[in-house]
Amino acid sequence: MLALLRLAVWTTLVAQLFNEVQAKPSAGTPVYTGVKSFPTEVFAGMYYEPKSMEQEPRPKVARFNGGYFPDSLNNPTQLPTAPPQSEVLMPPQLHGKAQVDQLIKDAFNIAGQLFKKDQQLSATCDLCRTGLATLQKLAHVSPEIVPDILGSICDTFGVFDLLNFKQECKRTLSKAVYGGPITQVLSSANFSANAMDAQGICGQVPSLNLCPKPTEKFSDDFLDKWFKGKRHAPQSVVQRWERRLENRIKKQRPKSELLRVPHLTDLHVDGRYMVGTESDCTFGATVACCRVNSYNNTKFHGSFLHGPLPDSEIVHKANYWGSLECDTPWALMANSFQALKELGGSKSWDFAIFTGDLVSHDDLYRYSHDLAEYSEQALYDMFKHYLGDVPLIPSLGNHDTSPENLMAPKSLPQNMGSEFQWDIEYVAQLWSSKNWLNDKQANQVRAHQGGYSISPRKGFRIIALNTDFWYYVNFYNYINMENPDMSGNLRFLTDELLAAEQAGERVWIIGHVLTGWSGAEALNRPGNLFYQIVSRFAPHTLAHIFFGHTHEDHFQLFYFNDNGASLSADRHTKNAVAQAFIAPSITPYMKLNPAIRVLSVDPDTYEVMDYDQYYSQIAEFDDLIRSRANHGPVWRHLYSAREAYSNFNASLSAGTYRAGVHLNGTKWPQYASLNGTFWAALTDEMEVRPELLTYFSDIQSRLSPTAKTCTTSACYKANLCYLRAGSPLQGQQCDPDYDTVARS
Ligand SMILES: *[C@@H]1O[C@H](CO)[C@@H](O)[C@H](O)[C@H]1NC(C)=O
Ligand SMILES: *[C@@H]1O[C@H](CO)[C@@H](O)[C@H](O)[C@H]1NC(C)=O
Ligand SMILES: *[C@@H]1O[C@H](CO)[C@@H](O)[C@H](O)[C@H]1NC(C)=O
Ligand SMILES: *[C@@H]1O[C@H](CO)[C@@H](O)[C@H](O)[C@H]1NC(C)=O
Ligand SMILES: *[C@@H]1O[C@H](CO)[C@@H](O)[C@H](O)[C@H]1NC(C)=O
Repeated sequence: MLALLRLAVWTTLVAQLFNEVQAKPSAGTPVYTGVKSFPTEVFAGMYYEPKSMEQEPRPKVARFNGGYFPDSLNNPTQLPTAPPQSEVLMPPQLHGKAQVDQLIKDAFNIAGQLFKKDQQLSATCDLCRTGLATLQKLAHVSPEIVPDILGSICDTFGVFDLLNFKQECKRTLSKAVYGGPITQVLSSANFSANAMDAQGICGQVPSLNLCPKPTEKFSDDFLDKWFKGKRHAPQSVVQRWERRLENRIKKQRPKSELLRVPHLTDLHVDGRYMVGTESDCTFGATVACCRVNSYNNTKFHGSFLHGPLPDSEIVHKANYWGSLECDTPWALMANSFQALKELGGSKSWDFAIFTGDLVSHDDLYRYSHDLAEYSEQALYDMFKHYLGDVPLIPSLGNHDTSPENLMAPKSLPQNMGSEFQWDIEYVAQLWSSKNWLNDKQANQVRAHQGGYSISPRKGFRIIALNTDFWYYVNFYNYINMENPDMSGNLRFLTDELLAAEQAGERVWIIGHVLTGWSGAEALNRPGNLFYQIVSRFAPHTLAHIFFGHTHEDHFQLFYFNDNGASLSADRHTKNAVAQAFIAPSITPYMKLNPAIRVLSVDPDTYEVMDYDQYYSQIAEFDDLIRSRANHGPVWRHLYSAREAYSNFNASLSAGTYRAGVHLNGTKWPQYASLNGTFWAALTDEMEVRPELLTYFSDIQSRLSPTAKTCTTSACYKANLCYLRAGSPLQGQQCDPDYDTVARS
């Protein structure tokens, strides 16, 4: 009720703010009303088919290479307690077992001092380095015991609480989950005084801040080599691009001639979602609600046994169609794909992009190779079913692996480099089996561990990256941090861009983990190298960048910078070279409405002329069940970027409109794309018209009734700062308190 009220208020508010947006009874025009039945025909069969939405359907998924995934992967009553022991990753023992007891004592002693948290930074940093060196010795003489020691240190000193990480120490740091991989990193990282690894680990583990962060700056020498002596786009390339822009003015295309490209991201299907359980759970030591073991401690006291609670002890029951606090149940997953197909209409799509994350959020010890492969197989089967011959260009997310978030670069010593090849090989073959990749690209996926380059149309190229290689939770990135590109993904990207520049192609980059915004996700050095690459190739060759990961709808800007330190970039609108679109998720997790974005793309320059955002309001799902509606969730058109954002009247009046693009009245001209200059100018407009930032924050969650709205000057300031931050270090200069409207 409250939710509906807020929506109504919101709708009038927006109607007042934007004369383009009409007042509507509910926010957005309905465009698709879902069917009630589950599309069993997509799968090999069903392990379970509910009669009347009392539980989720449980599809039987066939592996492309033979056999079926077991029902246990989507049976909500069978929660695994640990990954298979066969999936344990551990380093070899390097020396004899001398000194073990002393080393353990030292490690505890150092941890005790470190996690007291009232130290001077310099003392803390040295202590942290000594601690790592001690653990390394232990990892060399007795690797088997390190996971246990880590678990005990974590429990004894409340380390996960300090990190605000809601997991159980012992289980999470067990050998088969993170304990083994962390022991591998301890064994192989370079902790000598001049190497960067110790400082990197102590400095980039968030909330701890035990050391200053490693510098992002690259030397001229490094950059000369990196760009093979070609630090800037040749004049002929710039002129070629300018001619193309002029042609677009002459040849203005109506919307009907633009390419239509859906951008989906963050599906996170949860086969273990259980209808009727607590959706508004207090997490305790688990990350997922809507599970057989979920409860809210304001309603339920006592020691919890598995099994659905009586209704009287539940705050909000998990809905068949999905719940605001939870990942995507099968019913919503199918509904979203049906909406995708429906939105394509009779003309269908030109191609589609997907920026990763298929697997559900779960306690780390519930991940397994099977869970990753099952999610990959099931959801790429769905993509194929609903897209038909429309090519999908997918990229990997940090959840699409096991243990969650981890992927060791191939170049690492011992066995590390091949330990994730099971996953890479699976998607290489799976994507090929759908005809999305040819043999050359499949081999690129193998060589670059998920990275590849594809030309869906002549003169146009998309480069997919595996962004795990800059993700801060991927511990393997902390080995040899001096090298910002241990995986070679950025080398591959740069070489592809150099070739595309030669060939006169326009390029998009797709990937999962964003580099900027609040700067909390990517590591500083690879993030800054990416910034340097964008600055080098945008806008002439590199047209757009697409990310996902945060689940929220936002963007981040890149400005010209050629001195190797993004922090010194002059972030003035006239210097904007590109922006990254960060698209909203399908998964409602956390407190978001599912959304599908549709790009309208110019077929000559491959620039985005507009996008339309569609969404489904979860607050309506309970009514669907209560009223026994004979249909599924309704999808609505929420906004078009051009309608919502192309009026620059306030900055124009204030004299702060500095894009240099001649406006049509107060509007961004029709011929001009929504390029970096547009989004940079929008931040200037937001600065003088902060109601736009309030609107932006409501859109960020797709009008989720429980998300926060940005209405204070501190929040405005922080958001403008995030929007202008394309590199990690730029983002880290912003107030971190407003980087999400939904997650807590
Ligand atoms: C560790 O780093 C130092 C300083 O960069 C370097 O001199 C040394 O060779 C590295 N050791 C190994 C084993 O890579
Ligand atoms: C638990 O229930 C209380 C009371 O109904 C509610 O305010 C809270 O948001 C719920 N969820 C959590 C995570 O505490
Ligand atoms: C954006 O488009 C406008 C209009 O075509 C152009 O003047 C400007 O240089 C472009 N900026 C970028 C970063 O592509
Ligand atoms: C700009 O336009 C909006 C509505 O689109 C209006 O509310 C606002 O007052 C205008 N501002 C200026 C300075 O013209
Ligand atoms: C300016 O905008 C008006 C109203 O949207 C439109 O009819 C006209 O064609 C535009 N002019 C140019 C030069 O784009």
